[in-house]
Amino acid sequence: MAKRTLTILLAIILINIVLSEDVKANKSTKTSLDVDLKLKLLNKPAVKSIKSDDGDIIDCVDIHKQPAFDHPALQNHTIQMRPSFHLKSETPNTKNKASPQSQVVAQTWQRNGRCPNGTIPIRRIRSQDLLRASSLESFGKKAPPPSHKNNATYYLPNDLVYINNTNISLPSLSDRSAAILITLGFNYIGAQGDLNIWHPSVESPDDYTTAQVLLKNGASYDDFETVETGWVVNPKLYGDALTRLFAYWTVDAYKSTGCFDLTCAGFVQTSQDLALGASLEPWSVDGGPQYQVTVAINLDPHTGNWWLKVGQNAALGYWPRSLLNYLKASATSVEWGGQVYSPNVKKTPHTTTTMGSGEYASTLHGSACYIKAPRIVDYSLSLKYPQWVGTWADEPYCYSAYNYVQAPGVEPVFYFGGPGRNPNCP
Ligand SMILES: *[C@@H]1O[C@H](CO)[C@@H](O)[C@H](O)[C@H]1NC(C)=O
Ligand SMILES: *[C@@H]1O[C@H](CO)[C@@H](O)[C@H](O)[C@H]1NC(C)=O
Ligand SMILES: *[C@@H]1O[C@H](CO)[C@@H](O)[C@H](O)[C@H]1NC(C)=O
Ligand SMILES: *[C@@H]1O[C@H](CO)[C@@H](O)[C@H](O)[C@H]1NC(C)=O
Ligand SMILES: *[C@@H]1O[C@H](CO)[C@@H](O)[C@H](O)[C@H]1NC(C)=O
Ligand SMILES: *[C@@H]1O[C@H](CO)[C@@H](O)[C@H](O)[C@H]1NC(C)=O
Repeated sequence: MAKRTLTILLAIILINIVLSEDVKANKSTKTSLDVDLKLKLLNKPAVKSIKSDDGDIIDCVDIHKQPAFDHPALQNHTIQMRPSFHLKSETPNTKNKASPQSQVVAQTWQRNGRCPNGTIPIRRIRSQDLLRASSLESFGKKAPPPSHKNNATYYLPNDLVYINNTNISLPSLSDRSAAILITLGFNYIGAQGDLNIWHPSVESPDDYTTAQVLLKNGASYDDFETVETGWVVNPKLYGDALTRLFAYWTVDAYKSTGCFDLTCAGFVQTSQDLALGASLEPWSVDGGPQYQVTVAINLDPHTGNWWLKVGQNAALGYWPRSLLNYLKASATSVEWGGQVYSPNVKKTPHTTTTMGSGEYASTLHGSACYIKAPRIVDYSLSLKYPQWVGTWADEPYCYSAYNYVQAPGVEPVFYFGGPGRNPNCP
């Protein structure tokens, strides 16, 4: 009897082992083959590789062999090597005083080398990056809108922002929480801002937190295009909690297009100095030194390409005109601020992922994350403080927005951010 039981038990154990090995083998062989193929497609041959102290490998890739040219619309594209326009400088009395701590942006990998002329630095994607992704198709992208447009969770109530004496409704997704300064009502062909650099904490690898400047145009809340840039902490994508430079675009309201760096074909990089997706330093210190990076996005009126500049006058590359539809002529709104993506925003228990510095906007300079000197560009090619602005926070008790005016006649500074879950945001 005992012997029989033992035999049955052994048989069950054996079957289980065989089954689980089978499933594992099936899964891992399929995955590793797909992962290898995907890595071959994504990583272009390097002329030189630089090992960064943060663990990244930066590949210097021939500028003509960069991922952009995998895009069907860019088959015969001729690279525009530099912007063909100059913005009119601001008159001194409207210009925001440069903050004393402002400095040239640095990326960690730059300590260990430079990319040669004729190449661009690209953060190498490794198999562990792909294995962390929920799927190979979604790798590198923001999560698509969570639900169908008829789903009541898509549009949340009371999403009104007060601009130019009018309450304007803003679309808002159930899995994203923003705290922004927004302007609309004109056609914009550029925008910029000085982004304070922090390193907010992220609770779960599924969450990410950003600070950015975003330009948008479209027909409706689920049919629009954006170009955007700033910094992001995104552990699922990058495998760590470092603050990294990103440049995002979508032509279908995040449904299937877009990515944070050069992972998806589209953005044409011209700079040999900065790498999208690579970490930025140094971070600001609570009550201590503040660091910032100036980011700018401008439509080149001669070529129709949207140029990205990061740091003082440093053109990084552009989104080619042929990628875009609504944004071919101009943007119709500009947003500055932060966003937390998480399955656990707008619900209880709320995510503890923080935004900005992790402190509320009301804690101001040295504590809260700021965006200084927000500017728009109109057809006169002049930089201007936007005529009408509104502030908006999806969940003001979790992440707040405050356009602070220190004294009459002094230009406001936009502060945003917060701790996420806390007694007021359970
Ligand atoms: C093995 O992989 C194939 C192809 O992806 C799939 O159709 C099948 O369901 C998998 N089998 C198991 C046991 O997971
Ligand atoms: C690229 O050039 C070829 C040959 O002239 C042409 O057939 C093709 O349509 C062009 N592709 C694009 C996207 O313009
Ligand atoms: C790289 O280009 C710069 C600017 O055009 C030039 O000054 C420099 O000499 C070039 N370096 C090499 C190694 O060709
Ligand atoms: C709306 O979408 C959410 C998230 O996908 C889902 O849980 C919910 O059941 C949907 N509601 C309706 C009415 O379809
Ligand atoms: C805008 O909305 C707020 C809050 O709902 C309301 O108090 C205010 O009267 C509205 N203003 C206008 C001009 O509609
Ligand atoms: C802003 O408000 C003014 C005065 O109410 C109005 O004339 C103008 O059309 C508004 N502009 C926009 C873009 O809504």
